[in-house]
Amino acid sequence: MKNFVIFLIISQLLFPGEMKEWPTHTICKTEEVEAYYKSCDPMQDAGLSMDPCYRSLGKRLMAKIGVILRQDINLLYMNSRIGYNGVYLFHEEKTLCEKTAPKFSFCGKKKGEFVLYNHSVKIGGPSLPKGEYFINLELINENNYIIACVNFTVYSHPTV
Ligand SMILES: *[C@@H]1O[C@H](CO)[C@@H](O)[C@H](O)[C@H]1NC(C)=O
Ligand SMILES: *[C@@H]1O[C@H](CO)[C@@H](O)[C@H](O)[C@H]1NC(C)=O
Repeated sequence: MKNFVIFLIISQLLFPGEMKEWPTHTICKTEEVEAYYKSCDPMQDAGLSMDPCYRSLGKRLMAKIGVILRQDINLLYMNSRIGYNGVYLFHEEKTLCEKTAPKFSFCGKKKGEFVLYNHSVKIGGPSLPKGEYFINLELINENNYIIACVNFTVYSHPTV
């Protein structure tokens, strides 16, 4: 965990404000599923992990995401775009933080703070059918500023 935070801080210090292409990170890889991500925020990489690595979305998994804030997040919106086998499927917008009703512990955090979200999540639904999934996730604050942007690629290859 310490290394994870240090990694983020170093990447922030070394590349302040520099446009950069970030490396592709592996989230998990098993016989049935492979998941990768890449930060699409030009200013910083994102730390992310998920455990365990299941093809079934119905099971609980631990999701951990870390970013350093470059702006306050009094309001926070999440845009996600989802594609399957190269075809764009749908777009979803969600409000994660509102002034009147903060839903998450990170709502209201200020610029410069390190935000770590570490919780068990349950997405629900069936196992992923065979194929390639693309997810573009963007977190945007009240000034339309990108707080985090991550592109995921997930390959599902059921063995049965
Ligand atoms: C992330 O995905 C978006 C939307 O498909 C794309 O425009 C962008 O180039 C991707 N960025 C990276 C760094 O892969
Ligand atoms: C995340 O939460 C799990 C379970 O609550 C805990 O075991 C783990 O140490 C936490 N990790 C971090 C980095 O806080």
